[in-house]
Amino acid sequence: MNILFIGMGYVGTTMGVVLAKSGHNVTGLDIDQDKIATLNKGELYFHEPNLQKMLLNSHQNKNLYFTSEPKEAIENNDIVFITVGTPSLENGKADLTYVKSAAKMIGKYINSPKTIVVKSTVPIGTTEQIKQWINQESQSRFDINMVMNPEFLREGTAVQDALHPDRIVIGSEDRKSLEILDRVYQSWSCPILKTTPKAAEMIKYASNAFLATKISFINEVAKLCDTLDINVQDVSKGMGLDNRIGPAFLQAGLGYGGSCFPKDVKELLRTANSYRASLHILKEVEMINHIQYQYFLEKVKNNFVSLKGKKVTIFGLSFKPHTDDTRDSVSFSIMNELVKEKADIVVHDPVVSLSTNWLDKGIKQYSDPYDAVKSTDIILICTNWPVYQELDWRRIRKIVSDCYIFDGRNMLEASEMKKLNFHYEGIGYS
Ligand code: UDX
Repeated sequence: MNILFIGMGYVGTTMGVVLAKSGHNVTGLDIDQDKIATLNKGELYFHEPNLQKMLLNSHQNKNLYFTSEPKEAIENNDIVFITVGTPSLENGKADLTYVKSAAKMIGKYINSPKTIVVKSTVPIGTTEQIKQWINQESQSRFDINMVMNPEFLREGTAVQDALHPDRIVIGSEDRKSLEILDRVYQSWSCPILKTTPKAAEMIKYASNAFLATKISFINEVAKLCDTLDINVQDVSKGMGLDNRIGPAFLQAGLGYGGSCFPKDVKELLRTANSYRASLHILKEVEMINHIQYQYFLEKVKNNFVSLKGKKVTIFGLSFKPHTDDTRDSVSFSIMNELVKEKADIVVHDPVVSLSTNWLDKGIKQYSDPYDAVKSTDIILICTNWPVYQELDWRRIRKIVSDCYIFDGRNMLEASEMKKLNFHYEGIGYS
């Protein structure tokens, strides 16, 4: 099948590459010519494990190409996926600017019946609205079949998630679209849920909001565990063994960041408010997440009279491991506070480079973690990159004199660290 993706972000690129691998002819369209030029060379412009090799393969097979020319791309493809971003506006509303311009672009160049598949995360009712935007722009009337097909890809494991999803959700009002999407996903063997576009939109928001709720819940439990001297890791394990609860997303720590959970929780709350429905639980989820790094920093401050002049090494800048995405990454909120405290800040991340505005504040970045910790007073682990688990902590013990480790992701073995004479504290874990 000939499939067009509008929006070559990490979702559009990953899904485009994966659908090309399954045998479809895929075109990727984006207004950003630099992105297109890089992708056309068979190179990724962002960090996502395992995607680079697949991109090169499809490139060589010539069933995947990228363009900035909308006319030809839209005319030549009868199935169009919309995969543009929907970031949060100041008021928590999802910004539909890019979705609207994609719809208008389709309307302008539509030349035959099309199936429009919305993969961007959009507020309830937007799929229907997109059809109206397309129609408003088009000169002639062609059949437009709308489908809402939410994505559930996690950054860092997007390829695995795209190839082996837990489920595929297809929201559409007409049979023809459902048949077309069945053919698009014919190589997949997971459950496929067919529902209405509005229900599909809600499934995406409710899923992300529920996962965020699990995280904030375990973070609250972790704080109580700190007070009662209980290991929250054991609590998560014990809870997760119950099939009704499940082990995923019960990892206590610095809370959730990234481009999805914060914005999707906000948008669902806003939708609920606008219909005078009560989703009070999400207000708490958001607030707990918002103050989690302050709780962490309080732990640090409790051990020192002042952080002024203390050398603090931050391990991890990305919002989670295996990605270079720093959107809503808690490391930056922590750095801001430490700048205010006049600490001497040093950072390390396996893939993220600090921008000059941070370097201008006197923060130093090292590419070698052992250089980063030289004569440090405090190590803060902010992102659970496996590399921090694999460090030779015995060697680090020799480099530093008296050193405190605050593990915001509970990723190190507390007993091992204490044996090495580090002062070690996690969250609900020490
Ligand atoms: C999320 C959803 O999982 C995915 O289905 C959706 O399509 C996009 O948003 P992503 O934001 O890439 O994916 O990362 P995810 O692995 O879900 O982690 C989100 C945040 O939660 C990260 O900051 C992570 O560190 C944090 N987290 C996750 C925890 O603090 N504890 C956990 O147990 C799990």
